[in-house]
Amino acid sequence: MTITIKDEQGIAGMRLAGRLASQVLDYLEPFVKPGVTTNALDKLAHDYIVDVQGAIPAPLNYAPDGYPPYPKSICSSINHQVCHGIPNDKPLKKGDIVNLDITIIKDGWHGDTSRMFCVGDASIAAKRLCALTHEAMWHGIQQVRPGAHLGDIGWAIQSFAEGHGFSVVREFCGHGIGRGFHEDPQVLHYGKPGTLTELKAGMTFTIEPMINAGRRDIKELGDGWTIVTKDHSLSAQWEHTVLVTPTGYEVLTLSAGSPAIPDFVQPSA
Ligand code: MF3
Ligand code: CO
Ligand code: CO
Repeated sequence: MTITIKDEQGIAGMRLAGRLASQVLDYLEPFVKPGVTTNALDKLAHDYIVDVQGAIPAPLNYAPDGYPPYPKSICSSINHQVCHGIPNDKPLKKGDIVNLDITIIKDGWHGDTSRMFCVGDASIAAKRLCALTHEAMWHGIQQVRPGAHLGDIGWAIQSFAEGHGFSVVREFCGHGIGRGFHEDPQVLHYGKPGTLTELKAGMTFTIEPMINAGRRDIKELGDGWTIVTKDHSLSAQWEHTVLVTPTGYEVLTLSAGSPAIPDFVQPSA
C-alpha cells in the first residue's frame, strides 16, 4: 500500500480541484427540480466543467479493473440507489432524493464530492436520512488529525448511523485521492477506534458514507455500475475530500453553496 503525501504544491492543486468540484454542485442545484432528467444534469455538469472550469470530468470513460467504461460525466443515484447511478432520460419527480457525485481533474489533481438533493419536497423520513447522513460524514471528518487512525473515522460514522437505526454500506468506501482518482488507503465507514492506518499530515482522502434506512445489503444492477439496496430501502450519501493538516483537517471540497456545517463540529486548523 502506498499512501501519497502531498507537498505544498500538491496541496494547492488539491485545494483548487476540490473547490471546483464543489462549485459544480452549486451550479447544478437550481436545476434539480421535478421534470429534469439526470441526462440533462449530466450535460450541464459536463459543459460547465469543460467550458467554464477548464477541467476534466473524471468519471467519463473511467474503467477500473472489472468495470465497463463509465459512460457519463457525473453519478446520479436516486432513492434506493446507493451509488454510481448512471444518468438517463427519466425525469426526476417530486419527493425523490438524489445524490449527485462530482469528480473533476484540474491540472492533474482530483476533487471528489457529493451531496443529497430533495426534488421538490421529500418525505420527513427521506429528509431525516439525508440530514443524518450529512451529520454522519461530519462525525467522521472530525476525527481527522495526525496520529488518529482510519478506524476512528469508521467508528464515528458507524456508531452515529446505527445509533439512529440506520445501516452502513460495507462494500464501498472512501479513498485516497490526488493525481489518482482512487488511491490508497481505503477509508471504511465502519470499524473500531485505534485500528488501521495512522493518519499523517499531507494525506488527502475522501469520506463518503452510504447510509441505508433499512438493511445494509446491496446489489449491483446489470449495467455493471449502479448499486441499489437489496430491500429497496432509501439510501443517502455525502462526500468530501479532506486534507490532514499538522493540527487537524481541512475540507477541500467546500464552496459558497455548501450546506451549513453541523453545530457539533469544532473548528479545525
Ligand atoms: N465519485 C465516486 C467516488 O466517490 C466514484 C465514481 S466512479 C464512476 O469514488 F466511474 F462511477 F464515476
Ligand atoms: Co470518492
Ligand atoms: Co465521489
